[in-house]
Amino acid sequence: MTGVGIHDIAIATGHHVLELDDLAERLGVDPAKYHVGIGQDAFSVPAPDEDIVTMGAAAAKELIDRHGVDGIRTVLFATESGVDQSKAAGVYVHGLLGLPKAVRVVELKQACYGGMAAVQLALGIVARAPHERVLVIAADVARYDVDTPAEPTQGAGAAAILVSADPDLIEIEPAAGVYTADVDDFWRPNDRSTALVDGRLSVSAYVNAFVGAWDDLAEQGGPAYDDIARFVHHQPFTKMAIKAHRKLTQHVGAPFDESDLAIGFTYNRQTGNTYTASLWIGLAALLDLDDDLAGERLGLFSYGSGSVGELITGVVRPDYREHRRTGRVRSLLEARVPLTVDAYRELHAGGAATSEDVERPRVTTAPFRFAGVRGGARHYEASAQPDQQA
Ligand code: CAA
Repeated sequence: MTGVGIHDIAIATGHHVLELDDLAERLGVDPAKYHVGIGQDAFSVPAPDEDIVTMGAAAAKELIDRHGVDGIRTVLFATESGVDQSKAAGVYVHGLLGLPKAVRVVELKQACYGGMAAVQLALGIVARAPHERVLVIAADVARYDVDTPAEPTQGAGAAAILVSADPDLIEIEPAAGVYTADVDDFWRPNDRSTALVDGRLSVSAYVNAFVGAWDDLAEQGGPAYDDIARFVHHQPFTKMAIKAHRKLTQHVGAPFDESDLAIGFTYNRQTGNTYTASLWIGLAALLDLDDDLAGERLGLFSYGSGSVGELITGVVRPDYREHRRTGRVRSLLEARVPLTVDAYRELHAGGAATSEDVERPRVTTAPFRFAGVRGGARHYEASAQPDQQA
């Protein structure tokens, strides 16, 4: 076995998009505050028949279509925006994809950090059983109340990650830097569908977690700063990653050039915050759009409010360019259907999960849709192909 790591990544996002220029105009805000001040251009909005399950299943389907199901005995679904307090969202995905019965499925939660936790668990499973592969899904709908400072930092998206031995894309190194501190910077009580957030506190908590995770990585025998060619961060808004990285360079006494981070921001500037998926969407952008990563070491930082941070490193495979699917995410983003601010706010108002029976209108063109709630239970189905729709 030559190491364990990330064999493939696929991304999905919502059917709709809201341009932040339109929100800025409605709110009487200078659009530069969004484009420059927080570093975001737009955010994805799910259609009424989309949620974390449909986005997660769409991303996972791409991986199954490419690689089959052989060796997949574990599905780990990470999310902050779970659709049920008991049933794991991954069980719906298991059914939609027709995965074998001999599979364990579980859901993981720690705000935006859950995706990294899932990847770590997956790496451990594959290290013990190298013939197995683990399907990790990270999917979220980031919802804050309208007319709050956090409103422009919403978003929606999913990443599916296939973890295997002898991976095609990135071999993950064993040392990891971890950091936990009990902070109320962002949380979502059980009776709320929108998060509560102390935005300023979340910035300092994120920065502290990044520097703390770095120090722990160094203690665990991790690489020197200069031996890491590129960093990718969790991106609640891309300016957050810039702030944190600037602080790290001050901490280690290295020069800072924010343009080094720009490629990894390309997709997230368009999707908005995708919580657990955000880091992996940033990584997908880097792998898709940076041609000079062969043999280079990456630093991957995950942060989940509340708060847990983790920094890992991985070395990009020499022939990663032959395995990436450049253009796929760009076309997904370009295919989104724009919303007016009024239409977005109407969808937002109806976006809370419910146990009331309801049929959802057929809107999404993604592979799977949320059909509605019947007898209190959520129902999902394959979407009709466009030529089958009346
Ligand atoms: N041109 C350029 N820049 C401008 C500008 C203009 N016209 N107007 C303002 N700006 C700049 C400001 O100077 C400021 O920059 P700095 O931060 O560098 O000083 C920036 O734009 C933002 O301006 P404000 O601080 O005035 O913005 P705000 O108070 O309205 O909101 C925010 C900013 C607090 C980050 C808010 O967007 C927010 O609360 N977001 C949600 C919190 C969040 O995402 N936290 C991240 C971690 S939590 C997470 O990811 C969740 C998880 O774990 C699940």
